[in-house]
Amino acid sequence: MNVKTPTLDTFKLYFDDNKDSILNDYFEFLKFKSISTEKEHEGDLIACVNWLKKKTEDIGFNTQLWQTSGHPTLYAENLQAGPGKPTLLIYNHYDVQPVDPLELWDTPPFEPTIKDNTVYARGAQDNKGQCMYVFQALKGMMQVNNALPINIKWVVEGEEEAGSKGLSSILQEKREQLKSDYIAIADLGIPSQNTPSVTLGVRGIITMDVEVTGSNTDLHSGTHGGRAYNPLHALVEILSKLRDNQGRILVPGFYDSVAALPEKDRESISFDFDEENYTKTFGIPATGGEKNFAPLERSTIRPTLEINGINGGYSGDGFKTVIPAKATAKLSCRLVPHQDPESIGKNTVRYIESIAPKGISVKVNLHKGMGAAVRANPSSKIVRAYTEAYAQVFNTPCSFSLEGGSIPIITELSQACGGELVLMGMGLDDDQIHAPNEHFGLDRFERGFLVTILAIEALSREN
Ligand code: BES
Ligand code: MN
Repeated sequence: MNVKTPTLDTFKLYFDDNKDSILNDYFEFLKFKSISTEKEHEGDLIACVNWLKKKTEDIGFNTQLWQTSGHPTLYAENLQAGPGKPTLLIYNHYDVQPVDPLELWDTPPFEPTIKDNTVYARGAQDNKGQCMYVFQALKGMMQVNNALPINIKWVVEGEEEAGSKGLSSILQEKREQLKSDYIAIADLGIPSQNTPSVTLGVRGIITMDVEVTGSNTDLHSGTHGGRAYNPLHALVEILSKLRDNQGRILVPGFYDSVAALPEKDRESISFDFDEENYTKTFGIPATGGEKNFAPLERSTIRPTLEINGINGGYSGDGFKTVIPAKATAKLSCRLVPHQDPESIGKNTVRYIESIAPKGISVKVNLHKGMGAAVRANPSSKIVRAYTEAYAQVFNTPCSFSLEGGSIPIITELSQACGGELVLMGMGLDDDQIHAPNEHFGLDRFERGFLVTILAIEALSREN
């Protein structure tokens, strides 16, 4: 199938020989509490990115910290291959999601622990694990060959989990520096342990808060029950009007620009889904979303609207007979190609505010930092390079897939650098990213390391 490469054997050996130091780096990285959405962790994010900056300088990269309105971005480059060779920009993020509910973690989230060749910690996979195998790949090539076969630019941002506002606002001024032939987003996954796959697309995302306000103070639910309109009821009524009983989203115009998947894409992307395994792993059947679509269609090529949180009234121990003055909800929409985040956002806000019951005030606050869906070109050189690399490392043909999650900065970043895009990674659906006991298998860490190296080598052979 492929040309045999001595590179694979060399770097498998290198990985084994250097396993202790690789794990040591990985664990140090995981110990930083780099939670981007929590104010009190600002210092941890700075410490984390400075640690990574130093590590990257130590392996022969020039580095800069790009200050943004939020947490800084690490920019690193090694352009010693020279203008005759292509330039690949690799994207990772060093920030992580919050850890709550903390009591559900079996081991502390910032004290990485190995069990069954698997590392448990917040960020073990998303995205510090994937960031670390990219780093180790660059380091390994520098150690073994004393040089990189192509020019590498590495962008590691600190606000992916918070919507990438900061990086987004400086991309225009960094255009020249970012310029590259190819861009690889190393924050994705594969369908299952032994099934290699290059990701051809992610969904877009918009997020918002809904605030429902009634009286100017909490009220006694006996005295006022029957007179005052309860904001929690108003909220529940509003939320129940967002989708019909077929799972279709009722926001006007929501589906207007949604197109069917082109036939030729359907040939190369598998929508095979193991229902039984899903139920075994997560304890539920895959019954969410729109009727008449297959599970993997519903989670990749169809848009969604989800309630991510509801708040209001009394939910502590015991009981409190209250009609709360306020109730809130957090919503997000996942978007597919051709859906414009801005107009979908506006329509959703307008619709929700228009169905407010009389006597209740409803305000929707649409968040900044939204992103459209993204597609990579399956016949580009970069997709080919990664497809071959996956096939060699897994020793089995590599397919294409689509991801339902989002990485909002991709569109702007790939436009700013001008390069051909690939989405890659080693995540699995049950790595518990964003959840308690997040973990990443060391076998996949090694495979990510090897795929990165082989893809870089393959690009050096392109002209
Ligand atoms: N790495 C994920 C995206 C992802 C999710 C890839 C699932 C593969 C499988 C990324 O870090 C992420 O979680 N993005 C957020 C963005 C949001 C907070 C703006 C998401 O999709 O919810
Ligand atoms: Mn994430």
